[in-house]
Amino acid sequence: MCGITGYIGYHEATPRLLSMLQKLEYRGYDSAGIAVLDNDEIVVRKMKGPLSVLESALANEKIPGTLGIGHTRWATHGEPSDINAHPHTDISGFIAVVHNGIIENYIKLKNYLQERGVVFRSETDTEVIAHLLNFYYRNGKNRGQNSLLDAALKTLSKLEGSYSLGIIASDFPDRLICARKDNPLIVGLGENENYIASDVPALLPYTRNIHFLNERELAVLYRDHVDLFTESGEKIIREPSSIEWDIKSAEKSGYAHFMLKEINEQDKALSDTLSPRLIKKSNESITINFDEIKLDDSWAEAKKIVITGCGTAYHAGIVGKYIFEHFARIPVEVDIASEYRYRNPLINPNDIFIVMSQSGETADTLAAMRLAKKHGAKILAITNAVGSTLSREADLILYTWAGPEIAVASTKAFTTQLMCLYLLALRLAELRKTIPDREYKRTVRLLVKIPEQARNILVNQEVIQKLASKQFNKNKVFFIGRLFDYAVSLESALKLKEISYTHSEAFAAGELKHGAIALVDKGTLVIAIATQEALFEKIISNIREVSSRGAEVMVITWEGERAFDTVAAEIITIPKTDSSLSPLLSIIPLQLFAYYCAVQKGNDPDKPRNLAKSVTVE
Ligand code: F6R
Repeated sequence: MCGITGYIGYHEATPRLLSMLQKLEYRGYDSAGIAVLDNDEIVVRKMKGPLSVLESALANEKIPGTLGIGHTRWATHGEPSDINAHPHTDISGFIAVVHNGIIENYIKLKNYLQERGVVFRSETDTEVIAHLLNFYYRNGKNRGQNSLLDAALKTLSKLEGSYSLGIIASDFPDRLICARKDNPLIVGLGENENYIASDVPALLPYTRNIHFLNERELAVLYRDHVDLFTESGEKIIREPSSIEWDIKSAEKSGYAHFMLKEINEQDKALSDTLSPRLIKKSNESITINFDEIKLDDSWAEAKKIVITGCGTAYHAGIVGKYIFEHFARIPVEVDIASEYRYRNPLINPNDIFIVMSQSGETADTLAAMRLAKKHGAKILAITNAVGSTLSREADLILYTWAGPEIAVASTKAFTTQLMCLYLLALRLAELRKTIPDREYKRTVRLLVKIPEQARNILVNQEVIQKLASKQFNKNKVFFIGRLFDYAVSLESALKLKEISYTHSEAFAAGELKHGAIALVDKGTLVIAIATQEALFEKIISNIREVSSRGAEVMVITWEGERAFDTVAAEIITIPKTDSSLSPLLSIIPLQLFAYYCAVQKGNDPDKPRNLAKSVTVE
């Protein structure tokens, strides 16, 4: 996955392309580049390394052109290098292209072009697009105003795989063409200037009027207007959307990293996700209002829920299993989206199919959703991205109102996904009559308290920072828990490994003795999440098992709880709520722990190695 930007207007393109790329660096940062049309010639500057390397190289160069495209790369085909960096051009330098996605038939296309004398320079799949565009442009019958669009349409018809593209050509100083399939692309509408970008934050400093391109659509951007087309060349008339995001919410606002900012925003994000879905009649009587998605009788009668997603979203799904089974007494299957379509799943159209994705653009998640849809399943999407592919293809959408999540490691998206699952489960429990009225009301009242309780954890984060400064060098960290705490262990271990690069694993505490305990020795840190009162005795036994084998133990439990005083070296407490709601709070100190360990190790938590924010490739 990569980030794409483009500009056409009356200002210099370069500073705009670079500043937009800064907002998209989370999508890839192994190389960056721009192509700007300047005096009938396309000037390309591209370099291996983070965007800052390109910015320094361009600091003393003036490129006055007012039309250009930019790219920040996460390598798929060909190692990170100057040559493999985008933009790519045809040999004459007539056409320049930036691409996000994978062209699956590029070898076939490359052979076809090479047989006709085309010389390739890079190892990328993208380069075929530049050559194909040039090939169809030169061999096209139409030499008029539409010849570039025609060449683009012909080229797209030959591509298999996924793409979002930005294209400029030196014969056409008045236009920028872009297209998308299976990868996001947004057109920003300004006054006498227009933009393209892979994601909304890049456009916010310039405009809030946006066209979200749909699958297999193209846009031709001129300085004063934008034309939209289908891939078969038909013109589309569509009103732009207006984006309400606050620009501050897409910036760091004084925090050292986006990840820290996003962890600290969780009280607000939880409240923003919860409050619009509540109707308060009195302090005693608050009910869940799901006007945005009509849950008809088929929901009450469904026999099973299937939840799918990747990474953190998948972990939210595992918590979801416990939530739905606990409140709504309905069986739940949780599937890793990247596996789903390969195992010939049994899809029953009467099942409830919930697809979780912060970005709404994860290729594996979309593929799982499309397979289920093809077999008649009704899709409910839980996503943070308005206008994302998932939100446009699902039947019902529940938005997490977390605001933009920029850091690669997902934090506020996770807790707000959980909040949506709790609301849904309670509503379903009401419909299925599996929850007594008193219990329903009590649980909703406890949910209302969660944002403030989250804030209380966040204001005391020095405690966790200190613990991280003692523990960050551990070679092995194991998270253990039971039920809801096991699900949170999985997510905590992922957070720690992805940003601090510490080997960490999660185990259902009762499973230790079936094998994993062999790994425990002196020097292992075991973090026990202990919020399930009914199982305290059990987890205390598990703690004894590991500490007697030399492990140092840290416990996460309720404020005021004394059960672990004699068995744990360190205790982190969280405000008390019902044990069925604990994941909403217990994950927060562990997100902070992972963050501070990463910082202590000198890692950049916003851009962990080998990872990118939005995984739009399989
Ligand atoms: C981990 C992380 C990833 C994502 C996963 C799915 O911190 O961010 O594991 O959760 O790539 O992404 P979305 O939710 O955008 O589909």
